[in-house]
Amino acid sequence: APAAGAPKPLAGRTVTISAGGTREALDPVRFLGNRSSGKQGAALAQAALDAGARVRFLAAHMDVDPPEGVELVRVESALELREAALAAAPDSDVVIMAAAVADFRPAEVSDTKIKKKDDNDAPLVRLVRNPDILRELVEQRGLAQAGGLQGGGLHTGGAHGQLIVGFAAETGDADGDVLEHASAKLARKGCDLLVVNHVGVGRVFGQDETSVVILSGHGAGPQSAAGSKADVAAAVIDRIAAELDRVSP
Ligand code: CTP
Ligand code: CA
Repeated sequence: APAAGAPKPLAGRTVTISAGGTREALDPVRFLGNRSSGKQGAALAQAALDAGARVRFLAAHMDVDPPEGVELVRVESALELREAALAAAPDSDVVIMAAAVADFRPAEVSDTKIKKKDDNDAPLVRLVRNPDILRELVEQRGLAQAGGLQGGGLHTGGAHGQLIVGFAAETGDADGDVLEHASAKLARKGCDLLVVNHVGVGRVFGQDETSVVILSGHGAGPQSAAGSKADVAAAVIDRIAAELDRVSP
């Protein structure tokens, strides 16, 4: 936390942060999930609080408690997170999508518990695509700026006004290295910043030490940050505060 009396870089700002992993229901007792611990999102929320922001925290499933002092909204599935994120965004200065959002959900959700029928049957689960929330946030911002529909009168300061930040866990593969994949993703999503975790076996998921590269959609070079999740979160929040001062002084 900054020293008492130090200027708080996000004072007066509202930051919406999604965190944790979504759960996609199969039936009333089962779901498809992922291994996101929510630690990075919780660390970001704490860093944003320390920087003086009002923090709305959209929490999918987490292994850790959300920090005290956030405005907490619990969500389960990608569709619930989408609704919460699109609702919170219009009067947020910053939206950070740190949640691990399921790319697919079961096409049918059974109202009743799925039962075995005979000795050998096994159901086939058909999946459908979930919406890309990050991309929709960028679209919603664009529509609001074009139509003057954005609520709260916040977004008059610059070319973008609001900052939208994505996270990506990437590995290199035959099609390209980590940064190539990440740059393509940044362009695809259209967000302002993409915070990239380099994933390897035993890295990132549930770990306390981490390292990231922050990519900008506006021409600035990549910036690295490493250390505990708290250190990395503080570096990401610092960068966000600097970008925000640029687009929305
Ligand atoms: N994200 C989202 N909605 C989705 C999927 C992802 O908003 N349906 C957000 C994540 O919260 C994250 C960013 O997009 O901030 C990147 O997520 P990632 O899974 O890396 O991107 P995808 O486009 O799903 O690409 P991939 O096929 O590599 O999983
Ligand atoms: Ca994905």
